[in-house]
Amino acid sequence: MALHNTNPTTTIAWQKLQNHFQEMQNVSMSAMFEKDNTRTSQFHIQWNDFLVDYSKNIINQETLNLLLELANESQLKDSISKYFDGDGINQTENRAVLHTALRAAATANIKVDGENVIPEVFEVKSKIKTFTNEVVNGDRKGFTGKSFTDIVNIGIGGSDLGPAMVVEALQYYKNHLNVHFVSNVDGDHVNEIIKKLNPETTLFVIVSKTFTTQETLTNSETIREWFLKSAKQEDVAKHFVAVSTNLQRVTEFGINPDNVFPMWDWVGGRFSLWSAVGLSISLAIGFDNYNELLNGANEMDEHFKTEDFDKNIPVILALLSIWYNNFFGAESEALIPYSQYLQKLAPYLQQGFMESNGKSVDRNGKPVDYQTGTIIWGEPGTNSQHAFFQLIHQGTKLIPTDFIGFVKPLYGNEDHHDKLMSNFFAQTEALLHGKSAAKVQAEFDKQGLSAEKASFLLPFKVFSGNKPTNTILIQKLTPKALGSLVALYEHKIFVQGIIWNIFSYDQWGVELGKQLANSILDEINSKNVNSHDSSTEFLLNHFLKNK
Ligand code: F6P
Repeated sequence: MALHNTNPTTTIAWQKLQNHFQEMQNVSMSAMFEKDNTRTSQFHIQWNDFLVDYSKNIINQETLNLLLELANESQLKDSISKYFDGDGINQTENRAVLHTALRAAATANIKVDGENVIPEVFEVKSKIKTFTNEVVNGDRKGFTGKSFTDIVNIGIGGSDLGPAMVVEALQYYKNHLNVHFVSNVDGDHVNEIIKKLNPETTLFVIVSKTFTTQETLTNSETIREWFLKSAKQEDVAKHFVAVSTNLQRVTEFGINPDNVFPMWDWVGGRFSLWSAVGLSISLAIGFDNYNELLNGANEMDEHFKTEDFDKNIPVILALLSIWYNNFFGAESEALIPYSQYLQKLAPYLQQGFMESNGKSVDRNGKPVDYQTGTIIWGEPGTNSQHAFFQLIHQGTKLIPTDFIGFVKPLYGNEDHHDKLMSNFFAQTEALLHGKSAAKVQAEFDKQGLSAEKASFLLPFKVFSGNKPTNTILIQKLTPKALGSLVALYEHKIFVQGIIWNIFSYDQWGVELGKQLANSILDEINSKNVNSHDSSTEFLLNHFLKNK
């Protein structure tokens, strides 16, 4: 059944939110905290190992009630059922959206076209487990009889970002295998990786849902060519495995059909790390840890599916984001993990958020007359504090920010961790309260600064504060916690797409550039520049003349 189809701006809740915004836009969060010391107990959610404090937002109970009304008027509950039940909610591609089935229990019964997909999911999981154990234990050998030491994941977009992010994030749990990622069609990328490899002991995992992606095929061919300088054609089958839906193209490449890990068209690329696309994760951290990642995601799925909206983490975070995006006019959101391990989380989620909700046509095929997808960006704290925090504190743009931190460090270094976390807490407090002119003046007085100097410097040292933040404080960075965290953001994406009345699970916007690149490549190869706009022609001619 199709998703509902309502322009959110025509809902009663939206009209009420618009009026309510007039009252709230200049309200001081500090004042609200001062007035009501129950604010945090009202605006936080404790779930499993997660404590989500969203009290540092420009909201009151009425805001929340109206946002929840908007969710209800947008038929969110019904849409969630359709999402989890495998309805064809990716209507422009006529597909279900079932990454949640990949982490469901073995007893689940989730049907696509009348067929329960769970047995097949578990068959592939069991294949991943056997393969992982053979490689990790050294039982699976390369063409000279040596065990594998290095794994290379060749893929791009969803076939790279998820595994690369998770392998980086969970490196504390890693085994002896070195895992590399080749994604960019930039030949310097693949050559830098090849430099580190021994063909006798390297296993290549080609990940491409379609097996037609230019970058992945080009990199795979370059690597195979390099491999064949030391090995024979028949050795390809021992060193190359693939994750794909396109068995024909995979076997044409020379991969043994036994070494193909299938995936399904109901798994979107940017949500695919839970499928065999995560094979390099399983190889890096072992199958049990990989399975824990999936279990963590499944627990978040259950929370999202069953919890009342006012205590539902993905729903609340999605609604707050809509509040800023559509009423305050915020253009972007930052995501700041206070963990170096999570340095790839923001780039990974950029695909999730921006490929999904970067749409300007609604579910009627009509241009939207309101803002949709937010721009997501971020870097770990504390590094980011020394880079772009200046703009968040004192710039002209409103940037709602998620702070993600952990109670316990992995290596148990308390000194470092306490310093890290004191920054984590200090930043959200500073963003909330800012620093008033009176406080700045008091500091000047204490320092004995001359009146002239003080009056010159004062405006530069004032912080307006009132910058919204969410704090996600998790007990420890475990595979399970990471699984829950990623699933949280996946569901936030879903909720926003439902309310914005757009299709979140296609990505037609990446096609045009691909098509043009193909025809420009023909022109470069034939050294014959066709007619373009004068800028493109000028640049192409310069490139051809100087290459
Ligand atoms: O960027 C477009 C896209 O289709 C992504 O959605 C996908 O993750 C990526 O390309 C890679 O696609 P494939 O896995 O088919 O190679």
